[in-house]
Amino acid sequence: MYFERLIVNHLRCFDRLDYVPGEHLNLICGANGSGKTTVLEGLAIACLGRSFLTSNIGELVRTGAAGLSVQALLREGGEGGRNRVTVRKARGETTIEWDGQPVAAASMLAQRIPVLAVNSKAADLLTENPSNRRALLDRTMFHVEPSYVESWKAYRQALRQRNEVLRCGGASRDAAYWTQSLVESGSAIDARRQAMVAAINTGLQQSPLATEFGDDFGFAYQPGWNRETGFAEQLAATWERDAALGYTTVGIHRADLALRGRGRAISKRLSRGQGKITVIALFCALADFIAGHTGKRPVFLVDDLHAELDDNMCRRAVDMIVAVAGQGMFTAIRPSDLPDVANRTPSVFHVEHVADAVSS
Ligand SMILES: Nc1ncnc2c1ncn2[C@@H]1O[C@H](COP(=O)(O)OP(=O)(O)OP(=O)(O)O)[C@@H](O)[C@H]1O
Ligand SMILES: [Mg+2]
Repeated sequence: MYFERLIVNHLRCFDRLDYVPGEHLNLICGANGSGKTTVLEGLAIACLGRSFLTSNIGELVRTGAAGLSVQALLREGGEGGRNRVTVRKARGETTIEWDGQPVAAASMLAQRIPVLAVNSKAADLLTENPSNRRALLDRTMFHVEPSYVESWKAYRQALRQRNEVLRCGGASRDAAYWTQSLVESGSAIDARRQAMVAAINTGLQQSPLATEFGDDFGFAYQPGWNRETGFAEQLAATWERDAALGYTTVGIHRADLALRGRGRAISKRLSRGQGKITVIALFCALADFIAGHTGKRPVFLVDDLHAELDDNMCRRAVDMIVAVAGQGMFTAIRPSDLPDVANRTPSVFHVEHVADAVSS
């Protein structure tokens, strides 16, 4: 899957931008503030319906404009079809169209277009609260297995209803139906997540950090309940506590991924560069997992790769990404900052030049 064309209007510094990237590897260059990250942001908005930097639409809309629009032409590899995505944002509202038809939820886009963004916040994924790590696993499964979405919706509904009984002071038998549904959908999700984490760990073992952090370098998946006790049994055992709190405290909504190496938790011991390369290795393993199951190779949006990475790590990161990405969009101030990309692609896009030409 790749972007054939991106047209943005009134996004941050761009009055209008019309960008035709190459099918595989692309390098976007320009001075500080010229709009490199904003080009990636435009691509992310086309894939996810939202920016990877902010949920505040006001920040994204160009000063003085009433709203912004992002239009993208997407192409499947080989003989695959072509689709047009349009996202408009104005007055705090987002509207999305897929081939001219309105789309109710941005999750539909995220399901169709696999994208992985390596930006300045990438390494935070390992240390911030677990919801983004869970969301990453879930988004990956949404691409791979349509029935996962059904399990996930069933789980959310069962959790909402069970919490309602807990909040209203009901007895556990009043919630029996929803508890059963929670166990069934949660167990299905847990099994898929475990299989995915096993695949991720195989990928991490081949990453540059495996030699440093040992044979067990990889993620431990904590399901959100004690496996020895069992999900159904723990839900029963925690009913009184959950009733006092008014919500369900065990389940896949409490799951987490913990990075481990040499027998200990290491997420908070990594340097920024080590964290960044680990997240890149994680994304590459996810991309491989998606491609292996769907034949779709994700788009990688990679902002300022060389920041925080030494030349050797940078080269290895580029090699890993190139091996799995459908299309790679990299940014750097100058081509010489990212020679491993610059030497492999004729598609260098100089943002300041095009932005100036468009606005003149
Ligand atoms: N709402 C807005 N309206 C107009 N301009 C904006 C708005 N938001 C941000 N900008 C400007 O748009 C530009 C955004 O630049 P961006 O972050 O994409 O630059 P960059 O090329 O990635 O720079 P760097 O090399 O520093 O990372 C900046 O010049 C910023 O001041
Ligand atoms: Mg930038």
